[in-house]
Amino acid sequence: MSHEGINVALLGLGTVGSGVYKVMQRQKAEMPQKINTHLNIRRILVRNIAKYQDKIEDPSILTTEYETILEDAQIDLVIELIGGIEPAYTYIRSALEAGKSVVTANKDLIADRGGELFQIAEENHVELRFEASVAGGIPIISPLKNSLAANEIRKIMGIVNGTTNYILSKMTEEGMDYEDALAEATQLGYAEADPTADVEGYDAGRKIAILATIAFHSRVIFRDVYTEGITKITAKDISYARNLGRVIKLIAMAENTSEGIEVKVHPLLIPQNHPLASVSGSYNAVYVDGDAVEDVMFYGRGAGEMPTASAVMGDVFSIARRIVENSVGSTRDNVYRSIPVKRIENTRSSYYIRMEVEDKPGVLATIASIFGNNSVSIEQVIQKNKIDNNAELVIITSSVKERHIKDALLILESSSVVRKIATLIRVY
Ligand code: NAP
Ligand code: HSE
Repeated sequence: MSHEGINVALLGLGTVGSGVYKVMQRQKAEMPQKINTHLNIRRILVRNIAKYQDKIEDPSILTTEYETILEDAQIDLVIELIGGIEPAYTYIRSALEAGKSVVTANKDLIADRGGELFQIAEENHVELRFEASVAGGIPIISPLKNSLAANEIRKIMGIVNGTTNYILSKMTEEGMDYEDALAEATQLGYAEADPTADVEGYDAGRKIAILATIAFHSRVIFRDVYTEGITKITAKDISYARNLGRVIKLIAMAENTSEGIEVKVHPLLIPQNHPLASVSGSYNAVYVDGDAVEDVMFYGRGAGEMPTASAVMGDVFSIARRIVENSVGSTRDNVYRSIPVKRIENTRSSYYIRMEVEDKPGVLATIASIFGNNSVSIEQVIQKNKIDNNAELVIITSSVKERHIKDALLILESSSVVRKIATLIRVY
């Protein structure tokens, strides 16, 4: 071995931090062959030391004082796994400024302030890596930056949140309640500290912002992404979807169109034979369309202790190699375009609309004429159950502009024949 070893600090020892600790232990013997050095965890930052004392070999490395890490000149690499914006931002920024490279799984931070942190990393000739921030164990950031770099990426579409995919899979495949499925996903370590980020689509929104920035070389931040979550999806919609030969998935999509970047997260009815339809449980899949490669699909565990640790450790090994080779600090952000982001009102889709309407002759004609007057054409109508004195209607539209469907729904909601618009889901 030609290198004396690299000292690292772990910030956080929760789900992902514990996984990283375990992989470090497992890989100890092989590190000299794989990275020509060995890694030594010198400090672990937590809030509550007592909680973690029995979980590691040497509890004396636990600390609640970040300064002991920042001021330790022997620490070359900081692995941030506490999550959220603060204090994670301050910790990462100060580590980079102190000449330490950083690996993080923090999509909140990268999606919002990645540009700024990259610049600080460049100025200080250190590395900032974040493979684990998108799709857990699936390698997607490195392939986009390296193996697919010679492509003009046209579109990215995928399932990038393990918690919501777990919930929707359990509801679809086992008829489980939403609340029970969310409790299981939380217990399995898939959900964020506040699972609102998962179920409202914000986590997937952050991930697709990160992917779009890399793929299109143009900054896309979380605020640019249109997000809708899964909280309004009911067992009834899942059953209607099944009868239509479809499944409901929370899909993140980014497309570089001639009118700008379209970037959104929302539930989507996809055909049962679509490759994303069979991605189940905590698995994620990301489909990339490039001008040279055409279609590539990446598939694997999108969340959880060990799969996420795998992605974190890939980055750690990669930086360790650079430290050994003395080439740290040559990573570039590669954001050199400024493409506008399209407003959701100007995007197009087909829609599934479930509504409760008055049960009397002529109602369907009234609804059809409201749609027609707003440039929305109907492709399919299903009239199913009676609810009290009302009828339940499911309408599938042709592909229309979002603003036309929204205008039509506003008029329908105030019409005397419509009792309630229950659900609106886009159809692929
Ligand atoms: P977690 O289980 O909640 O663990 C967070 C850890 O950070 C805990 O050890 C906690 O210590 C520590 N911590 C939190 N705030 C702190 C602070 N202010 N100072 C010091 N320590 C602090 O979270 P996680 O699931 O491992 O997620 C960590 C990061 O990875 C997040 O950015 C998340 O989005 C990302 N991620 C998670 C997954 C996943 O499957 N879970 C997958 C990909 C990416 P205490 O217990 O003492 O508070
Ligand atoms: N809460 C996230 C998810 C963790 O469920 O996908 C992985 O980023």
